[in-house]
Amino acid sequence: VAPLRVGIAGLGTVGAEVVRLIEEQSRTLAERSGRGVRVVAVTARSKAKKRSLDLRGVNWAKSPLDLASDANVDCFVELMGGSGEPALSAIEAALKAGKSVVTANKALIAKHGVRLAKAAEKHGGAFNYEAAVGAAIPVIKTLREGLAGTGVSRVYGILNGTCNYILTRMEQEGLSFAECLKDAQRLGYAEADPSFDVDGHDTAQKLAILASLAFGTKVAQSAVYVEGISSIAPEDLRAAEELGYRVKLLGVAVRTAKGIEQRVHPTMVPKSSSIAQVMGVTNAVTIDGEGIPPITLVGPGAGGAATASAVVADIADVARGIRAKPFGRPVERLRDTSKAPMERH
Ligand code: HSE
Repeated sequence: VAPLRVGIAGLGTVGAEVVRLIEEQSRTLAERSGRGVRVVAVTARSKAKKRSLDLRGVNWAKSPLDLASDANVDCFVELMGGSGEPALSAIEAALKAGKSVVTANKALIAKHGVRLAKAAEKHGGAFNYEAAVGAAIPVIKTLREGLAGTGVSRVYGILNGTCNYILTRMEQEGLSFAECLKDAQRLGYAEADPSFDVDGHDTAQKLAILASLAFGTKVAQSAVYVEGISSIAPEDLRAAEELGYRVKLLGVAVRTAKGIEQRVHPTMVPKSSSIAQVMGVTNAVTIDGEGIPPITLVGPGAGGAATASAVVADIADVARGIRAKPFGRPVERLRDTSKAPMERH
């Protein structure tokens, strides 16, 4: 079988790590997917930037759109980020050409996921985005494919590594919010614009995606109530601690009699609870199924290596020929609940 020819748009923290991982894991990947996986083309904002990557024999495309339209690319991997252009047109072009697409772009999926999924279904390519939520944790797969036989009543958790890292270090070391944020940026956890992390929007995007998969609804980021952590200081965490609590930024989506309620806000959790034990850049997602006890997935939620591992797993699925419905069921069956009433807490 001919190898899967991969084109990668974006060689930042995640993209560079994906190139490295595909090279390093080439034998395992071939064994597990039954065919080779090869990076044949890339594109990035700066070609000159030092990356210590071996890109000999790899074609440099002029633009993401050129890469997506390259007849030598079977699988277009978008790792540029941003909820709009140039990622959107490039992904759309790849899907319309019948190619498979892998992306880690939660902002784009939260905004245009349903439209892109429709194109994937129509033209037959896979559209995989495991790395968009919970980095290395296979939570998309769990909701999309693993729990197909179970109704979900609630999905919630810690979905932003940067915020949990900041809250952990403020609590344990009494450091200021600004110092902790700077470290999260240095370690490659934070978004290019870290206000997306600390103001809760990154969590809201991820929650909206999980809610869609859990409840069979259209992704509706605008329906999420959002409050971030930027006004929290070490003293607030100490005060909570004295009362027996820890503060965590939670995203919660729950099925109610009135519709799907989605909210993101700092929450006091009892120190003895399992979610209170989730520290640092770790994420945790709990799924309450109907008729089964809760399932919790815990693991690294941000960073180049953790995110790249999920991207490469998605590429391996494409190589294997797996074509899951992007939202677990046909897009036209997704219900629109963006106007559902929501109770504020
Ligand atoms: N900035 C994100 C986070 C990256 O901190 O969780 C992973 O999506």
